[in-house]
Amino acid sequence: MQVRPLREEEKVIYAGMVRDAFVIPGNFVPDFVERLKVEDTRALIDDEGRIVSGLNILWNDIWFGQKKLHVVDITGVATPPENRRQGLLKQLLREVLRQEAANGYNISALYPFEFAFYRKFGYELASSSQHVKVKIPALAHFRSKTRGRWTQLVEDDWARFKTLYDKFCVGRFGRFDRDENFWRRNVLKAWEPGGPVPQNLYVWTDASGLDRAYVIYRHKNKDANGWERDMRIREMVWLDEAARHEIYAFIANHDSQAEKAVWNTEPGDEIYALLNNPREATIEYDSGYMLRLLNVEKALAERAWPVLGAGETAGFSLAVRDDVFEWNDGRTYRLEAKGEQVEVSSVAGTEHAGLSCDVRILAQFYAGYLSPFEAARLGKLEVSSETELAAAQRLFSPPGQPASFMNDHW
Ligand SMILES: CC(C)(COP(=O)(O)OP(=O)(O)OC[C@H]1O[C@@H](n2cnc3c(N)ncnc32)[C@H](O)[C@@H]1OP(=O)(O)O)[C@@H](O)C(=O)NCCC(=O)NCCS
Repeated sequence: MQVRPLREEEKVIYAGMVRDAFVIPGNFVPDFVERLKVEDTRALIDDEGRIVSGLNILWNDIWFGQKKLHVVDITGVATPPENRRQGLLKQLLREVLRQEAANGYNISALYPFEFAFYRKFGYELASSSQHVKVKIPALAHFRSKTRGRWTQLVEDDWARFKTLYDKFCVGRFGRFDRDENFWRRNVLKAWEPGGPVPQNLYVWTDASGLDRAYVIYRHKNKDANGWERDMRIREMVWLDEAARHEIYAFIANHDSQAEKAVWNTEPGDEIYALLNNPREATIEYDSGYMLRLLNVEKALAERAWPVLGAGETAGFSLAVRDDVFEWNDGRTYRLEAKGEQVEVSSVAGTEHAGLSCDVRILAQFYAGYLSPFEAARLGKLEVSSETELAAAQRLFSPPGQPASFMNDHW
């Protein structure tokens, strides 16, 4: 068995595997083959040269607070049915993650078909989302207050959306860094079973000419005649609260077209407090993407941390268990923050650690999904020093930090 990228002539075989594995209707293969780059694929090849399992890697960064970090984003994981449950994907994915750790990648992310399956590889749930439905008349009290205007744009204006989005992402957790191709294909278009459909693309520009908000949305009929319709918002982004107010005022002006406005947002992004009648809105929660720390020490060193006041210090020591990658396992990691500086080091052994957890739980802290306090309360973090627990809380989950939320599927 060998792990390697696909060859050009093998792309069509892998495309067929993906089509069958994900039960994709329509003429999927030619378009997929054209878009697929062999350097983004990895396959397990048996002794007869056949592809027995395959996957696709996106190299898009993800935002973790003040920094976006390089991530091995795994997708298109497929083993044909005749080869399943022989440990083939396990062999492939473990080897890919080992190779990418050796190549200097410290974290990996994916969307699971089944959480338990990817936990076996050291991934853990790293975000959640809230699905908001608001009856549009409930937003009627939002009227435009700031001078500026809404302009409808087209797909070729993708860079204006990207500029705003990139500013919006700074300080947030779990936002996916998008290249032009991703913008055009996955954000500025929506996908129906029959193929792509356009979105309404609107940007709000203030009186000085600065773009400060956008809304990307479409209307979706809920019955054949269109008597019942939702305004489905793919994304709304704002640079400040005044711009956000303009977004709600803009949505309110769709009351003649749709009953409800529907969008996904990060948990804690409060909507009820904005409404005169909170019963006009509902919120549902859903689980999101999974994260894996490939190299704990390097991942801790490359993450952005809250800046402490001049002369202030905070530090903790954390013993980590990793039943997949031996280089992380049974070590104690020490993080010392002083003012703007953070130092990360590690020693073998776990006896003197103030805190102790599995690498999966550490991924949840890292992602900004679960805080050390919450993990300790849930029995997922062992604590022998309350002082170090408080320091870990301050560094991983300072007050006011937005919840982890990814608004893209891949
Ligand atoms: C999911 C899929 C990739 C698994 O491939 P595979 O080569 O059969 O997986 P492996 O044999 O390497 O199994 C790895 C582990 O997961 C377990 N496992 C395999 N299939 C599983 C399933 N469908 N549900 C839960 N666990 C499963 C195995 O028992 C094994 O566990 P172990 O290490 O404790 O023994 C394959 O079934 C597939 O292509 N499915 C359709 C597409 C899909 O869902 N892809 C994943 C998208 S995120």
